[in-house]
Amino acid sequence: MNKNYIIPNEWSIIEDGFDAENVEASESLFSIGNGSMGQRANFEEDYSGKTFQGSYIGGIYYPDKTRVGWWKNGYPEYFAKVLNAPNWIGIQIKINETNVDLNTCEISNFKRELNMKEGWLSRSFHAVLPTGEEIEVFTKRFISVTYNEVGAIEYAVKALNFSGEITFAPYLDAGIENEDANYDEFFWETLKIVDGENAGCILSKTLKTEFHVGTAMDVSFAVNGKAIETSQETTIAEKTLTYTYNLTIAEGDTITIYKYGSYVSSLNYKNEELISVALNNVSKAKEIGFKALLNTQIEAWATIWKTADIVIEGDIKAQQGIRFNIFQLNQTYMGTDARLNIGPKGFTGEKYGGSTYWDTEAYCIPFYMATKDASVAKNLLLYRYNQLGKAIENAEKLGFKNGAALYPMVTMNGEECHNEWEITFEEIHRNGAMVYGIYNYVNYTQDFEYVVKYGLEVIIAVARFWHQRANYSAAKNQYVILGVTGPNEYENNINNNFYTNYLAKWCIEYAVDCLNKVKHNYADDFDRILAKTNLSIDETYQWMKVSDDMYFPFNEEKQLYLQQDGFLDKELIPVDELPTSERPINQKWSWDRILRSCYIKQADVLQGMFFFENKFSKEELERHFDFYEPLTVHESSLSPCVHSILAASIDRMPKAYEQYVRTSRLDLDDYNHEVHEGCHITSMAGTWMSIVQGFGGMRVWEDGILNFNPQIPAEWKSYSFTINFRGNILKVYKSQSECKFFNESATEIKLFVNDKKISIAPNKLVTV
Ligand code: BGC
Repeated sequence: MNKNYIIPNEWSIIEDGFDAENVEASESLFSIGNGSMGQRANFEEDYSGKTFQGSYIGGIYYPDKTRVGWWKNGYPEYFAKVLNAPNWIGIQIKINETNVDLNTCEISNFKRELNMKEGWLSRSFHAVLPTGEEIEVFTKRFISVTYNEVGAIEYAVKALNFSGEITFAPYLDAGIENEDANYDEFFWETLKIVDGENAGCILSKTLKTEFHVGTAMDVSFAVNGKAIETSQETTIAEKTLTYTYNLTIAEGDTITIYKYGSYVSSLNYKNEELISVALNNVSKAKEIGFKALLNTQIEAWATIWKTADIVIEGDIKAQQGIRFNIFQLNQTYMGTDARLNIGPKGFTGEKYGGSTYWDTEAYCIPFYMATKDASVAKNLLLYRYNQLGKAIENAEKLGFKNGAALYPMVTMNGEECHNEWEITFEEIHRNGAMVYGIYNYVNYTQDFEYVVKYGLEVIIAVARFWHQRANYSAAKNQYVILGVTGPNEYENNINNNFYTNYLAKWCIEYAVDCLNKVKHNYADDFDRILAKTNLSIDETYQWMKVSDDMYFPFNEEKQLYLQQDGFLDKELIPVDELPTSERPINQKWSWDRILRSCYIKQADVLQGMFFFENKFSKEELERHFDFYEPLTVHESSLSPCVHSILAASIDRMPKAYEQYVRTSRLDLDDYNHEVHEGCHITSMAGTWMSIVQGFGGMRVWEDGILNFNPQIPAEWKSYSFTINFRGNILKVYKSQSECKFFNESATEIKLFVNDKKISIAPNKLVTV
């Protein structure tokens, strides 16, 4: 795999020159989507080289039967797989009967661009066919943000040295297999293929889950920019619909095909409506036309960038990195549908199967909260509220009672589908993230009503879980939590993981705190919630015994919280001393060796200190950072951002910058050697946090006060970002010599900068 082949550019991801070795990586990096659907940047024309074809529809999944070596009671029956959906982009091109295939042609002037400012993907190249014909190809494609069930392709072919026949064969292919399937089974059934004038549709349904999906296409042609009328020859096979257009092309002429595609699903329509809605969508798209559709796309992205953009001056790779992260996050989730969530690979790949991990609450909510309207973060919280019943069922299956909830490690519909015992049963810290997400949201938005209406039920159910999961240790005369996996998945079945115990204690305290607030300010709701959850005040006293007496492993000599009881028994050799040939250790070492080692996959103790930084002194943060950072291998994409933010908060800017570069260009520079599988979407929100919370020092704790403490890496001239704070738009600018705040809204904004209170009048700029 070649690294560093992406050309630095402020607004675009660019690949210059064709290298078959990079095809799969580029298919991930140049992915496009609109929050409802998305796809890898596969070529429209046939490609016989190595490729990973992928197109996905939000919320459409398949419960793939669990595959494990040794079945253990409590394992979920299935692992929900995000489903590779029917292909609507394919256009087979033939010149005088010879297939255009980049794997068999001689390619020059190949260029691919993902324009993040305007939300489109383009590709151009010069190809010499094995039979000698030379063509120039230009393609542009996007998935519409405005019409969120529609995508469009412009595909132009110019004949350079010949006159002859050119065949365009746009098709729909419902015979798609998942890259990630446990038993190599086929997940779709084709129900109906409908054929019309230049337009057609395939109705498919997923096996078991019975999601129905209509996939439609409509095509039109232009010769040298002038529309022409043509009609197709239709081929209908078992799972495909192909329209063949045989045209004549003269040397120097350009023929362009426009292909409009649409996915509609039973999530939004009745099954019997799907074909007509899909066909109507593509016909409407064709009527609007490619250019006009593209213009709406450009406008839609301009609106997104208004509150989401981060500008970095003086470091083009950092600039490209942050925009790539922000762009992909928006392509994955737009926040309008509380049934959807943010999969670790978004619409760029299939690894991690299900759509929702603790990544959403721990990493993504801050990004959506500050760059969009508060309703978006609220939808993410509602997603979990709506799945509370299933979380209670999950806990019951594992022996918990009385309405205790254990949210799943991975889910599509609220049911657990992770099936490695050390994660499914033990990585229970995820339950705390559900409550942390609510806490973070309430601090930032001050929307305590959310807790009253929905959140408190989740908070109570999670507090019940921790109360039952901890046990009293007579030897310690304290409560312990045994047999867990912390965020560091490179240790399993450990006792008293600091992060887990800390969250457990905090969750109970927060629950009691919220109950008190509701009791005093919302008496009716208090009674309603107590009745609904069957909670008595006496029960909360039982919880508090656990939170008041929680045990934390602590080493007096080093004044350190230990990651787990046995951590100091390990041989502590800093990562720097590991030969590079042995890294990443998850690809080079046996699993038992990893488990015994001191190496930490991702922030663990430090994750807790990041969440609750206001509860620790600066000295404590420094001490723990200095101990754990050198032992951390950052083999989870979620790790560098947390280390970057903490490094900035203890004034270690070079370290903060180093980790920032790693998180922001993790995929672009393929740090973990796996970008061909898809991009790391959820950690991209961590990249955003590294700037806004890390360098910008933005914090909002329980008091609801907005704080900044801006710093700037030595490598940058300046940076600026915008946040939506309770409906007010605030722009923050920091250069090496200046720090400015611009209030773009109609009401005054009060905040603290470097611990000094300031207030900014509407439409006023303040230099600090
Ligand atoms: C990390 C988890 C994370 C998951 C999905 C794993 O590698 O260790 O913390 O939830 O990836 O991003």
